[in-house]
This record gives sequence, structure tokens and C-alpha cells, in this order.
Amino acid sequence: MALLNGRATMPCKRLVIAFDGPAGAGKSTVARLTAKELGYLYLDTGAMYRALALKALTQGVDLRDQEQLSALLGKTAIELEQGRDHVLRVYLDGREVSDLLRTPEVNASVSLVAEFPDIRSEMVMRQRAVAKRGGVVMDGRDIGTVVLPDADVKFFLTASLRARAQRRQIDLKALGYEVDLAQLAADIEHRDALDSSRAHSPLRQADDAVLVDTTEAGVEAVLERILRECRKHVC
Ligand code: DC
Repeated sequence: MALLNGRATMPCKRLVIAFDGPAGAGKSTVARLTAKELGYLYLDTGAMYRALALKALTQGVDLRDQEQLSALLGKTAIELEQGRDHVLRVYLDGREVSDLLRTPEVNASVSLVAEFPDIRSEMVMRQRAVAKRGGVVMDGRDIGTVVLPDADVKFFLTASLRARAQRRQIDLKALGYEVDLAQLAADIEHRDALDSSRAHSPLRQADDAVLVDTTEAGVEAVLERILRECRKHVC
């Protein structure tokens, strides 16, 4: 209980905030900054699927074999630690793999891993366990629809294919990969199609999510809009 003018008041609620949208729409950046601004925990669920894809690739596990992948996930610890500026550090079985999760190899494999219902239900369980404490910002594809249908605030971020491909090109360049823009746009479009058309938890805007198009807007403007919306729900 907090005291306001001598009267007992309930403490402000620590929100559960969901971000969904296609690759390159700006979810991770905006979700991370939202968490930083509100002093919340940030959870990038895509990083969990990427970590499993990385482990499967490294160990030569067949990415099309749900049983093998499930067994692998069962003995896999994925930890996300909040670094400086809320930048996530990802640990796979205790080893930091943050810089290995966005390579073209992982990009090309992760949709396969994320397609399997057994993998998804285990990931969803782990994600819900984190959200239980409140004060969490989570981003992914199925957060507002499946993982946290009762989230306090939901956002669906989108942007044109060209803008999304350009952003991914910049990210990859920073990692030392030169990738052709048209090829990147084709890859993203393919991954969007896989994510949106899969039978289990496809990428879809929740009915109660706020739609934000980030094609033209800078990060600051998007963040301001998001925070304005969140503050309506805080106290
Ligand atoms: O957001 P990202 O690009 O890091 O996501 C990587 C892949 O994981 C992408 O193919 C979609 C999938 N994913 C998912 O199916 N569900 C989530 N909650 C998060 C990511």
C-alpha cells in the first residue's frame, strides 16, 4: 500500500504489454525501449526460437523432425538477461549466444522450428511463467493472441516490406553480412507467409490490439505513441 495525502492507495499496477507483428516491423527496438522507459522486464520470444534453431543446427538435429527437436528443447536451458539499455543477452545452456542468433543460417531455419505445436507449447509455458510477475513487455508473433490473451495492452506493429527489408539489411551489415535488398525482401516475404499461414498460432493481429504502422515514423515517434497508450492503463 502507498500513502497519498494520508490515505492508503493501491500501488500502481505493473502492466503486461504484448507486441506482435512481422519481421522488421520494429517490435524488438520499440518493445525494448518501452520496457526501459517503464522499468519493466523485456522478453524477446523470437530469441527463444532462434536459440533452439541454433542449437539444432550446431548439433545436426533434423529441423523437420518435431520429436527430435522437442527432446532437444527438453534438455535446453534458454536464459535471457537484461543487459545495458535493456539489450538482451541470450544464454544457451549457460553460454552466451546473443551474437549468433541473427545469422542468415538461423534466419533461414527458425520458422521451421517455430512451426511445431510441441515446441510452441513448451515455449509458451516458459513465456507465461515470466509474465506472471507483471511489469513485462513481451514481443513475438502470438503474444496478444495465444501467450498472453489477457495482456493489459497489446500492440501490432507493421511496416511496408521494403522498409522492413531495409532495416534487416542494416542489422545484417552490422553483423558483417552484405545481403542484397531484393533477396532479403523475398526471404522476409517467405518467412511472413510461413508465420502467417501455419496451423498453430499463426501471426495475426489480436482483435483488441492497437495497430501501429512504423513505415514512415521514427523510433521516437512510435515510442511516444506506445507510451501514451500504456499510460492510460497504469494507475
Ligand atoms: O522476431 P524474430 O524474427 O526474432 O522471430 C524469429 C522467428 O520465430 C520467426 O520466424 C517467427 C518465430 N516466432 C514465433 O513463431 N512466435 C514468437 N512468439 C516469436 C517468434
